[in-house]
Amino acid sequence: MANTILVGAQWGDEGKGKIIDVLTGKADVVVRSQGGNNAGHTVIHGGTKYVLHLIPSGILRRGKVCVIGNGVVVDPVALVQEIEGLRKLGIKVDENLILSDCAHLVMPYHRVLDEQRELRKGRAKIGTTKRGIGPAYSDKAARTGLRVSDLMQPILFSKKLQAKIRENNSILQALGASPINYRDVREKYLAAGEKLRPFVANTVVYLHRALQKGKEILFEGAQGTFLDLDHGTYPYVTSSNTTAGGACTGSGVPPHRMDRVLGVMKAYTTRVGEGPLPTEDAKLADLLHKMGREFGATTGRPRRCGWFDAVATHYSAMINGIDELAITNLDGLDHVDPIKICVGYRLNGKRVHVPPPDAAQLDNCEPIYQQLPGWNKSTHSAKKLSQLPLQARNYIDRIAKLTGARLSMISIGPARGQTIAV
Ligand code: IMP
Ligand code: MG
Repeated sequence: MANTILVGAQWGDEGKGKIIDVLTGKADVVVRSQGGNNAGHTVIHGGTKYVLHLIPSGILRRGKVCVIGNGVVVDPVALVQEIEGLRKLGIKVDENLILSDCAHLVMPYHRVLDEQRELRKGRAKIGTTKRGIGPAYSDKAARTGLRVSDLMQPILFSKKLQAKIRENNSILQALGASPINYRDVREKYLAAGEKLRPFVANTVVYLHRALQKGKEILFEGAQGTFLDLDHGTYPYVTSSNTTAGGACTGSGVPPHRMDRVLGVMKAYTTRVGEGPLPTEDAKLADLLHKMGREFGATTGRPRRCGWFDAVATHYSAMINGIDELAITNLDGLDHVDPIKICVGYRLNGKRVHVPPPDAAQLDNCEPIYQQLPGWNKSTHSAKKLSQLPLQARNYIDRIAKLTGARLSMISIGPARGQTIAV
């Protein structure tokens, strides 16, 4: 396997966790380069369900090194919990996890600020995961953040923390929220820091040595293209670059060392949180929820659902440079007939072929649909493409063609084996 960037081609929750788990079989190193514990990657293996938030999904395969890169924002208390949770399930973490000393920390005041900002926005809220991600990245951009390297120096950390808490408490008080106790936070964070110390390293150097040795690296994207801070449906986005470029800045691996970009997309569309979703369809959502599908892995919220949006995925292929596609959750459409595909938008009477940059405009876009017949049977046990019903193959071909990338994988269920290589 070449050095591969895996990105979500839609609004997140495309089933990346499972595809990463399958690809990790061939990779040596798996890297997270953006986002924080807002992410939720679900992997089902050997009958056990694992939900990963910060640790790359590669950790479930023995002997694979997992890196949390500089571009990730880390809540150290949550990371320790995740490590301990995995250990309890018998997963070896100790030799296989490396945490960048340059990663920024998510602090308790970030979480409160996230919550307060959302409350104040009322109906205009973003629908964040309330993990403090936006405020943590704001501090990073404002050059006032605390990093893992600070946490490794308790005296320095305490000093910086005290100033940060003082500053944030005056903001919290003005917002009518309870102030944060410096001593409590210092104690919790330093304790977590000591547990994390063995994992901390300069991950850029580690990755470059791995490249020199010819190791193959998989960059696991979190969230999805339309949640990208620059390219998504701003302001209804997350605060990191979820698109392919983010893998370079968030890891320190240069662009020319990347060999391919694999885009993961669902056979339909989902979104959690607020913001435009042109192909949203209440009936389809109802059907998927009744099947027990499409509930958020991090917050448990029911995801909003809609038809496959080829305008969006085509744009996504352009931004990310997607060469190969993995289509997931095909089985979600097993009993849907007919199936709609959005092939264009109409905005103010005119046809548009790319999503407009403004969220309100995108909200006003009316999808133009094409209909395809459904297959009305289970696809769960297909082992190869030829075992899929003809209508399903036609559907996949159509959405791959509209997206403009080569199809390389189809997922028809949560287990490792329910993956068809094309
Ligand atoms: P935040 O990342 O918590 O600030 O949330 C911003 C937006 O991104 C909200 O609409 C969230 O629902 C969405 N979001 C954040 N992380 C994920 C994810 O891992 N999957 C899907 N949506 C996400
Ligand atoms: Mg998810």
